[in-house]
Amino acid sequence: METTKVKLSELQIHPLVLKIKQYQPNQFMTFSMKNFGQKTNVIVVLRNGVYYIIDGGCRYYAAIEAGNIDALNCNVLNIPDSEILDTRITYNLKTKVHLSEKCMNIEHMLNLMGNNQGKRNDILGMNNINDEDEFGTAGRDRFEIACMQSGLEFSGRTLRKLMAVHDYEKTDNSLGLIEGIDNGTYKIDAAYRLMLSSRDKDGKKEARNKRKIEALNTDVWFKVFEQSSVDLSNLKKYRPQFAAFSPTYWGMKEYRNQGEMEYGQEPTLQEYLENSRKFIDALMDIMDENGVVVIIIGESYAGGYKSIITQYEMMLLEAGLEVIGKCPWIKSNSTPVILKDFFRTVDETILVCKMKGAEVNFNPEMKKTKEGKKMVKKSHKAKDGSERYFVQDEETVVSNVIITPVVNDSEYKKYDPEFTHDAPAPMAVYERFVDSYTLPGMTCIDIHCGAGQGLEVFARKGCNAIGVDIDPVSVEFCNKRMKMVLGERNETELQQAA
Ligand SMILES: C[S@@+](CC[C@H](N)C(=O)[O-])C[C@H]1O[C@@H](n2cnc3c(N)ncnc32)[C@H](O)[C@@H]1O
Repeated sequence: METTKVKLSELQIHPLVLKIKQYQPNQFMTFSMKNFGQKTNVIVVLRNGVYYIIDGGCRYYAAIEAGNIDALNCNVLNIPDSEILDTRITYNLKTKVHLSEKCMNIEHMLNLMGNNQGKRNDILGMNNINDEDEFGTAGRDRFEIACMQSGLEFSGRTLRKLMAVHDYEKTDNSLGLIEGIDNGTYKIDAAYRLMLSSRDKDGKKEARNKRKIEALNTDVWFKVFEQSSVDLSNLKKYRPQFAAFSPTYWGMKEYRNQGEMEYGQEPTLQEYLENSRKFIDALMDIMDENGVVVIIIGESYAGGYKSIITQYEMMLLEAGLEVIGKCPWIKSNSTPVILKDFFRTVDETILVCKMKGAEVNFNPEMKKTKEGKKMVKKSHKAKDGSERYFVQDEETVVSNVIITPVVNDSEYKKYDPEFTHDAPAPMAVYERFVDSYTLPGMTCIDIHCGAGQGLEVFARKGCNAIGVDIDPVSVEFCNKRMKMVLGERNETELQQAA
């Protein structure tokens, strides 16, 4: 092999190469050739005074386009035509550098090495990634030069996305995004979007963990009011962000001390719904504008199906609440009455509502996926037939179906074995919604607090708890219970501090 400088006019692409490769104009290569000159020799064979290129055609065309180069440095090989294509492959293999290595070279070129994340973001203009003209302190030129010198045929904007993916994979490369770009599975844009989605999921996970710690450490208070919840105006100053309402069902049990209204014992369903509306109006009047209201409601089959839940929902909409969704609550061990011409009914309904236009804080409870790890999965193909992908986290949002046993009396009897209540709801039901819709430090209200099942959950999740009930026996019990709960919480805190 000899090295020589050959005029452009004496160079041609070898016809065997032209059969397997079509050359496209390459503006990056041209730019690089024009500004930095030739970096790598072209590989040629000599036939009858003409130098035929077998590797380096792009550099040859770029040199012509550049206009300021009249000759190229060439390695002249002495090989027969039968070896030309094999030799070309060997040269190509030698020059294939893994993308992760290119990314590291670019870090060096852009002066990113050793800089902290904030500085890196400044250099790359990451804080304005959607701005087409923002290239950070590195500037557009350096981005484009870095692309060219690394043999990457794309714009500075795309490079910025590539570097964001590269940065992310330093702490979490479980998705293999750079590898996927290198082997052609993902375009850089797609990998970047997958990275954003993965980062978003990491953030939510972090928030959930933080929430658990804060729930234990936040100071909370409670107040229990013995009054009818048809007028809550004295509680307006608290502006609760979360409310639970488990109304007495229509035509079912008779509770003690129910006041004049005797809610649930109305002669007609219409009157029951009208009274229900009074509670909702009173509640909406005191709620925070981004408040969430969770209502546990059951159907009645006495004398036939009554569509109570449907009518209740309509009443809520008329009152101005927005229904976010419905959760069927299945009691796994209930012993319901046998109905004529119908199955055993073991479900009640939980309506999750919000104040009109509210921006709801939703950090749902999660469960492990069957794969149990974060991964990229294929979704449906795009309209143009190309593959699409999404990030599946190791956890996924739980379903809207809640399955619990009926309440276990010991949940409240441990505070006073003498206390009885006709219809407490299991704490697990409250936990699902308080976990998902509140943050520590928020204020929550239960406007039919009964045995205080909800109040205890509020406090244990780091929220201030307000309870309202018309029955003085329940109110006295809730006060006693909550003092003990808060005492216990403080004791745990002290133990942790010690
Ligand atoms: C189904 S229970 C709620 C039980 C509660 N969710 C628990 O887990 O203990 C209904 C409660 O509403 C209360 N109640 C009935 N009418 C009321 C009214 N007008 N104002 C406030 N509370 C009322 C009853 O005293 C009863 O404790």
